[in-house]
Amino acid sequence: MSDAPEGPDEAASENPAAAPAEAPSAEASEAAAPSRSHGRIAVRPTRRPRDLMEETRVKNAWLARVLTLFPGMFPGPLGESLTGRALAEGLWALDRVDLREFGLGRHRAVDDTPAGGGAGMVLRADVVSAALDAAPTPGPVICLSPRGRPFDQAFAKALSEGPGATFLCGRFEGVDQRVIEARGMIEVSLGDFVMTGGEIAAMALIDATVRLIPRVLGNAESVEEESFSHGLLEAPHYTKPALWEGREIPEVLLSGHHARISQWRREEAERLTKERRPDLWRALRGE
Ligand SMILES: C[S@@+](CC[C@H](N)C(=O)[O-])C[C@H]1O[C@@H](n2cnc3c(N)ncnc32)[C@H](O)[C@@H]1O
Repeated sequence: MSDAPEGPDEAASENPAAAPAEAPSAEASEAAAPSRSHGRIAVRPTRRPRDLMEETRVKNAWLARVLTLFPGMFPGPLGESLTGRALAEGLWALDRVDLREFGLGRHRAVDDTPAGGGAGMVLRADVVSAALDAAPTPGPVICLSPRGRPFDQAFAKALSEGPGATFLCGRFEGVDQRVIEARGMIEVSLGDFVMTGGEIAAMALIDATVRLIPRVLGNAESVEEESFSHGLLEAPHYTKPALWEGREIPEVLLSGHHARISQWRREEAERLTKERRPDLWRALRGE
């Protein structure tokens, strides 16, 4: 499946920080090293006093390294709310690697035409490998791709229990298959649809993973109870007012009877899973 062709200047035109440079300045060379972001503050691995921010990072904090043509997209939504607070507190860390810095020639080209012809452009293997090999990769290397294995809660849990992960955000028609294979990447899909790039998919994977890291969510119980934790969708929620537009809260939830409430939630979770996700229901029953 193909989008309209995306030219090699896609990133340069949309992201001023990625504009091709004639001769890399000292700052540009420094930028070739991964930058680390804590909340809204980006920190580069130099010996400058601002690196004192590094001290806010908890020892062995989960590390997300993101290879992208649009580093300015990160942390984006991950810098807000619970994930943003956890980032600022150093419970996890973010390295942004600008693929453009590893581009070739005057224009720092990162892509080229597809072998065998066809629409669009393909991210070059030599550019991607140079960006990957510039720093040790934490955990598995994930290539976001619509043809990858579908992402799910079990995958997020497994990722959260490791040291971190590296995310390669594709653009154009995708990534040269040779670097995917040579670097042992896992191709992972967010779902059966095609987005313009891997950045939003990477954010979704990071968000789902980071919230499983201990202390990121205030209430650990909520992770235990939520959808997919036990192979079922979650039961519906209600809150005040007790009567809204003529609709009442199910009586059992107001009964204060914990065993009956638990049983009701279990039955609702089973009913919803059977109705909406027969695939999950069959898997739970071992069919
Ligand atoms: C326009 S898409 C390429 C689509 C590719 N030509 C295809 O038909 O499978 C560009 C990039 O967006 C990312 N992407 C798009 N949809 C995705 C999805 N559902 N899950 C994960 N990544 C996705 C991938 O990184 C991909 O390389």
